[in-house]
Amino acid sequence: MARWARWLGSWEAQQQALLPRREERFSLICAALATGCGTSPRVLDLGSGPGSLALRVVRCLPGSEVVAVDRDPVLLEIGRRALVRRPQVSFADRDLADPLLPELGSGFDAAVSSTALHWLDEAALARLYRSLALMLRPGGIFLNADHLPRSGGAIEELVGELEKGAEEGRPQPAPSGARSWDGWWAIAESAAELSEAVAERRRREHHHPQRSVPVPLEHHRQALRDAGFAEVGCLWQHLNDRILVAVR
Ligand SMILES: C[S@@+](CC[C@H](N)C(=O)[O-])C[C@H]1O[C@@H](n2cnc3c(N)ncnc32)[C@H](O)[C@@H]1O
Repeated sequence: MARWARWLGSWEAQQQALLPRREERFSLICAALATGCGTSPRVLDLGSGPGSLALRVVRCLPGSEVVAVDRDPVLLEIGRRALVRRPQVSFADRDLADPLLPELGSGFDAAVSSTALHWLDEAALARLYRSLALMLRPGGIFLNADHLPRSGGAIEELVGELEKGAEEGRPQPAPSGARSWDGWWAIAESAAELSEAVAERRRREHHHPQRSVPVPLEHHRQALRDAGFAEVGCLWQHLNDRILVAVR
């Protein structure tokens, strides 16, 4: 158990090093759930990894139930083992872009996501948003914290420059250390307790996409509206780091 808690802890440290405002985003998502969905919501965590956001949700709302959805066998293994004493969190091994995702259930009060949906291309996002419209109850909310740039123009150029400056001013984790993405994965790939999950991850060829241009904010907004969401807005923003909010 302690070993799995350490794996979860090292994941948290690695993500925190990449995203200095990660905890602020988590807190706001939890506050929005508490305000908008009451004390015992049923929640989906999309691209949950080892359940970082799911854990924040059940800590903040002990009456909640979270289905954490991911298709990375290594992160699912860490999450299932580390959160074994949190029965309100269950993990589902699913591809978010699978049109059969709604088999996971319906009537959810909310769906949340953190630093995950930028892995999906336009077509996959459109499929996911159509699935979400079926899975959330009317009035249910979707909260997506991610890097969500707009599609161009002078403001976007300015924001891009400011982000570049902020990135350069931040201390960068050593590329082979546990706090960098590649370093963390290199350590995980050589750990005996993760060897089966690592082999399955390789078999699935599940890796961070090498996309140079992220899917723009406008596409997310339009795809959510096309899927049937009644309202789409922005709950929080720091440069292009945003929490997008949509009401079903
Ligand atoms: C950077 S991690 C973020 C994990 C977690 N939400 C957090 O904030 O720590 C991105 C996650 O999205 C998951 N993911 C990406 N594409 C996916 C897909 N098509 N289906 C399911 N999960 C996916 C990855 O496996 C990974 O766990």
